[in-house]
Amino acid sequence: MSLARHFDLVIFDWAGTMVDFGCLAPVEALIAAFARRGVMLTEPEVRRDMGKAKADHVRALLGDPRTAAAWSAANGAAPTARDCEALIADLGPLMRDQAARTATLIGGAAITVQALRAAGLRVASSTGYTREMMQPVLERAAAQGYAPDHLVCSGETAQGRPSPLMIYKACAELGVWPLSRVVKVDDSEAGVAEGRAAGCLSVGVAASGNGIGLSAAGLDALPLPERAARIAAAGAALYAAGADVVIDSVADLVPALERYVADLRQPGPCREPVLLTPGPLTTESQTKAAMLVDWGSWDGAFNDLTAAVCRDLVAIAGGGDEHVCVPLQGSGTFAVEAALGTFVPKGAKVLVPDNGSYCKRIVRILGYLGREAVVLPHGEQEPADPARIDDALAADAAITHVAQVHCETSTGILNPLPQIAAVVARHGRGLIVDAMSSYGALPLDARSLRFDALIAASGKCLEGVPGMGFVIARRAALESCAGNSHSLALDLVDQWRYLQMTGQWRFTPPTHVVAALRTAIDRYRRQGGREARLARYTANCAALIGGMRTLGFAPFLPDALQAPIIVTFHSPADAAYEFPEFYRLVRDRGFILYPGKLTAVDTFRVGCIGAIGAEEIRRAVAAVADALREMGIREAAPK
Ligand SMILES: Cc1ncc(COP(=O)(O)O)c(C=O)c1O
Repeated sequence: MSLARHFDLVIFDWAGTMVDFGCLAPVEALIAAFARRGVMLTEPEVRRDMGKAKADHVRALLGDPRTAAAWSAANGAAPTARDCEALIADLGPLMRDQAARTATLIGGAAITVQALRAAGLRVASSTGYTREMMQPVLERAAAQGYAPDHLVCSGETAQGRPSPLMIYKACAELGVWPLSRVVKVDDSEAGVAEGRAAGCLSVGVAASGNGIGLSAAGLDALPLPERAARIAAAGAALYAAGADVVIDSVADLVPALERYVADLRQPGPCREPVLLTPGPLTTESQTKAAMLVDWGSWDGAFNDLTAAVCRDLVAIAGGGDEHVCVPLQGSGTFAVEAALGTFVPKGAKVLVPDNGSYCKRIVRILGYLGREAVVLPHGEQEPADPARIDDALAADAAITHVAQVHCETSTGILNPLPQIAAVVARHGRGLIVDAMSSYGALPLDARSLRFDALIAASGKCLEGVPGMGFVIARRAALESCAGNSHSLALDLVDQWRYLQMTGQWRFTPPTHVVAALRTAIDRYRRQGGREARLARYTANCAALIGGMRTLGFAPFLPDALQAPIIVTFHSPADAAYEFPEFYRLVRDRGFILYPGKLTAVDTFRVGCIGAIGAEEIRRAVAAVADALREMGIREAAPK
């Protein structure tokens, strides 16, 4: 896609955007300059006005009541205009030294500039540094392969950021117009606001800049959840400052611009929303495209497709020759009902540890099937307890099976499946696992986890489209279940035998769903399989919780119990809040939320799964913030 059809010029900020990961130089220089006058600044104080011209930055700091009081205490009088000028003069050499020392290019900066130039765009720069401070930075950057076509420094326009004058100057001198063909890239809120004020596409840089303020090594050393949460919070602040797009670092700029341009080509009302729901979920374009072919259900090619998909589904669960996959038409619940009806004989008894709606649905299904259920009640914030399951099995020898939901999607809680499976195996009972929202992402290994049946569906963590459930069954267990099922359509033994005999599904197969799942599994493998998927969802979840917390939202679950699949948030206490309106406003901004599923507490849910990453989560948090503003809700804290 040609970026030159949309843009002529990209203007980059310097520190925190192209050089000096973490934007450390100005912080150290300002702290040193003030310390010489007996005033100890904190890092957050210094970072608050980052991006402004350095003289404006010093003025802003001296205008701050705490700093002014500290100045008076140290110097015996309030700061004067002359003090301010003297400080600015002191800062010059300190900044120059620090800027020179930290002028290492941020990873991907040089290659991004090369790619932009190769696409026919020009590259300019602007900074809150003076030209004198910039001299050593320019030399060091050029030696590392970055030399922009143009530079505007502080003091060269009547006003600095957030005014748009530096951008106007660059455009006037380079002969670029209109401003809508210009991209401004900056890590500071003042710099993002500058881009917005100029009428450019304003791109914020979250991870390498002032919002986090850590070196690349410092950021890498953070545990993943904390890193993701801090990047999300920095991104949310940049969106609040007016960014159109937020990226982690300059290395992500070209793909982000290409995505932005591709989105523009879709007319507004038809633009696809991002589904933040745990199935159906956002799928990749390749997966959608796989449905453009019609398949004959009797055709050998389709039979091969089904066989290959089933083989892969067994392998993803760590199954071998002793496991088989039985696919089934319909949504996940059809497969749950089929598994319960097939594996639980008439007259058998099923223990159901219950900590949410999907557990309760199992109990309802057993009721319909006329199979006895023993419910083991838990709180919705309480993981299923292996010790209580142990006791219940010990107390009642008539219990033949345990039906366990792995990730209870109504809250997002993770149940300790390995421990529960070990207890059930020790008692020699059958285990039926509803792994609908966990299969493909959370660890599930049939080599170490003994189950009779494990149930999932196409449109969940494998990121296929909905329409097909499947049951990974222990072959020996399945073979012993002939005649159990109450239903012809849901008899998994019959479905499996027919498939084995003919290679075909018994009744009309969801051909397009199977084809999409084939592509989704190929994409899954290419992207690094289960570990990579879990890593992406974990990062999404941390970014979501971090970003929503900055708005005041509180997750329903403590972090330790939260599976990285879906997050339940308490509804805001504000009287102006009501979910349907909140949903509509967030939907108008391109994101589909999920209503809460709890009876006692008012909540809503946001999925972390699907073909989405940090950018979508950041934009979603910004959309939520915007929706709250429109509803007049200042504080999203719950009751
Ligand atoms: C744990 C769990 N079980 C069962 C289901 C039911 O699946 P479906 O809505 O596709 O019938 C879901 C759906 O999200 C689920 O998360």
